Amino acid sequence: MEVREYQSSDEEGWLRCRVLSFLQTAYYDNVLQEKETYENPAIELVAVKDDQLVGLIDVEYEKTERTLCSRGNGLGGMIWHLAVHPDFRRNGIGNKLLAEAEKLAKQKGLNRLEAWTRDDDWVNSWYEKNNFRRVDSYLHVYMDGQNELKNTITSEKPSLYPVQVFAHYTGKETKKIKANYKRVHECICYEKEL
Ligand SMILES: CC(C)(COP(=O)(O)OP(=O)(O)OC[C@H]1O[C@@H](n2cnc3c(N)ncnc32)[C@H](O)[C@@H]1OP(=O)(O)O)[C@@H](O)C(=O)NCCC(=O)NCCS
Repeated sequence: MEVREYQSSDEEGWLRCRVLSFLQTAYYDNVLQEKETYENPAIELVAVKDDQLVGLIDVEYEKTERTLCSRGNGLGGMIWHLAVHPDFRRNGIGNKLLAEAEKLAKQKGLNRLEAWTRDDDWVNSWYEKNNFRRVDSYLHVYMDGQNELKNTITSEKPSLYPVQVFAHYTGKETKKIKANYKRVHECICYEKEL
């Protein structure tokens, strides 16, 4: 298995790996049809085994302090995408991608990495095992159908009726929100000093 820089010819494999990887997570319906590109420079790595793309990591990084990361001083990097193909998990591929990204991040003068992930215990434990610290969280709330939308969301446009809504909740009444809506995820911020 080789970890190397992403090339544009990897795009199809990158998209497939990401979508398959996310199927078993709280991001199961977060599907991309094109690989994301970034305004700032980025470390974009892939893991390849027998010509198959089996893992990926994208870290966009700051050229100016606090233009990307939500906290901290100095230049930081944001992990936007991290995924290992489900058939190749628990073989150290995620660790290897992270280690290579960290090496490059240090060479570029970054002092920390930030990542946001939802409430999949096994993914959270992967971050913790890799010495990330949980530093913040808020809720991702999906509202579906009239019962859930009623008394919460109204449209001011005539003849336009919301059917599904995705919202962020940053308040303190998290228990109430979790009780009122069927699909609520905690979105957790991790930080690692380099
Ligand atoms: C998190 C992820 C990147 C880890 O990559 P990986 O190559 O499988 O992980 P590694 O081999 O480096 O580390 C293995 C550890 O990850 C965790 N892990 C990975 N897959 C797991 C699974 N299916 N069940 C339970 N734990 C799992 C465990 O802590 C495991 O350690 P263990 O085998 O000693 O119990 C990968 O599992 C993944 O793609 N997850 C889904 C996508 C995602 O949620 N990405 C981050 C959100 S942005």
